[in-house]
Amino acid sequence: MDPRLIEAINKIRDESLKEAVLDLVKEPSLNLSGALYEGLRVEDSPASLSRHHSYPGGLLEHILSTLRIALTLCDCVEEIYHGKVNRDLVIAGVILHDILKPLMYVARDDGGYKSSPLSERVDHLTLITSELVRRGLPLEIVHVVCAHHGDAGPISPKTLEALICHVADVADSTLNGKVLRAAKYLIKEVTGQPVEVIDSKTAFELVHLKAKEGWEGVREALTGSNLMEE
Ligand SMILES: [Fe+2]
Ligand SMILES: [Fe+2]
Repeated sequence: MDPRLIEAINKIRDESLKEAVLDLVKEPSLNLSGALYEGLRVEDSPASLSRHHSYPGGLLEHILSTLRIALTLCDCVEEIYHGKVNRDLVIAGVILHDILKPLMYVARDDGGYKSSPLSERVDHLTLITSELVRRGLPLEIVHVVCAHHGDAGPISPKTLEALICHVADVADSTLNGKVLRAAKYLIKEVTGQPVEVIDSKTAFELVHLKAKEGWEGVREALTGSNLMEE
């Protein structure tokens, strides 16, 4: 398992919650009527097909970045608003909220992804919520995960921990998604070719270069890269 993910899990103080999270992250698979559904490795999976983190390793980056944002929100609650928040619930909720997404995708030959047959029948939020219930996890953590889509999900956040997880999730997916979209636009304008998969490092770099050096900077960065050759 990626050491950054282990480090994140180790931030959970409650031993039984930590164990439960570790179990799920180690093996995000499902058994339905004797049929075993295994997906991509957590470390290899994207977090969406096209909206945000839609590249190999995107899910891991999404979890780590969302966790950083969520813990900063916990600091705000405690240090600025003088409120109380259960960090264990926030950390576990962020790590688990999209952890069955690897079951939603199948890798394509061209480096992109398509929907898995399982994802044509059930979504990642329903799956992880039901799996947490099946494993007997505490209701408070079930709620954080179940409410992570906010008003667009089956239930809106009713606790501070659930709200923090939702807000951090939206912030990170919006940040990443908008930068990916901008970088894809830059590439298409310069190369004349649409690009389907682009990693976050390239995307953030291109957006930075465009602001700093204009189109010339983008063109120079793309010259000789495999994005230009395509
Ligand atoms: Fe989600
Ligand atoms: Fe998410």
